[in-house]
Amino acid sequence: PIPVIIDTDPGIDDAVAIALALFSEELDVKLITTVAGNVGIDYTTLNALRLVTYFRVDVPVARGASEPLLRPLEDASAIHGKTGMEGFEFPEPNESLLSSLNAVDAMRKLILDSEEKITLIPIGPLTNIALLLKTYPEVKANIDRIVMMGGSASRGNKGVMSEFNIGVDPEAAKIVFHAGVPIVMAGLDVGLKALVYPEDSVQLPAMGKTGTMIHDLFKRYRGGSFNTGLKMYDPCAVACLLAPELFTFADTYVDVEVCGELTSGCTVVDLKGYLHQDSNASVAIDVDGEAFRKWFLDGIRRCV
Ligand code: BDR
Ligand code: CA
Repeated sequence: PIPVIIDTDPGIDDAVAIALALFSEELDVKLITTVAGNVGIDYTTLNALRLVTYFRVDVPVARGASEPLLRPLEDASAIHGKTGMEGFEFPEPNESLLSSLNAVDAMRKLILDSEEKITLIPIGPLTNIALLLKTYPEVKANIDRIVMMGGSASRGNKGVMSEFNIGVDPEAAKIVFHAGVPIVMAGLDVGLKALVYPEDSVQLPAMGKTGTMIHDLFKRYRGGSFNTGLKMYDPCAVACLLAPELFTFADTYVDVEVCGELTSGCTVVDLKGYLHQDSNASVAIDVDGEAFRKWFLDGIRRCV
């Protein structure tokens, strides 16, 4: 299996991505690190602990950055609920799974100690990843790639031109895209098309404890109405690793706007090569929505 670290701000779609990764035989989740994003760091860390406790896995959780590098946190509690994962009663979290190291030091240790290269799966703002790459650049040699959910080759969902994970901490994203580590970017171009529908959700409780939990979280996601489909943003990053055949990728140069008057947090995806830069990312520009739906349901069915 591929050794991975998930950096996350759970978050309902984060919870789905984490489940799919933890129960996949092709991935070995070594560490979960938390970051402020959808909600504040206390809740994202508590939620990550709740998830690993619920899934009965002994994956350590390390708490990370509580604020973006330069900006105040603008969270998404309006979408994910006050605690970030409302709608399901989780058992008491197993606090012994909380690492004594912070996210950056826990990642550094794991990456440098590992015999195999580690894949990073960031599915929240990139604050921790930027801090890691700037504090300990020696880790880069033992990172296989960064497979992220973030950005957009077109428009935004936080602002006109900014996707949430990039828009919350554009400076961190810019650091990551310029770090020289191979990047796979699953942004809104695929996230907006990776949809699950009410008729998918009703099947979930019969799939066991993970399906039941996700079904209950979905009832609260975006206020509970999802006739036009619920966007599975973060599971797209996991799917890029596990089922790349669902996607169309373009190798291209990506930069991040950090000081635009109206466009800060925009990922500038140079598909036409205007900037004459070498490619630094493989960008998922399209997804087969029907195949994704099937992959999602098959994956949750295996989460037992
Ligand atoms: C991203 O923003 C968050 O609300 C989701 O968890 C996802 O990571 C989508 O733009
Ligand atoms: Ca997320």
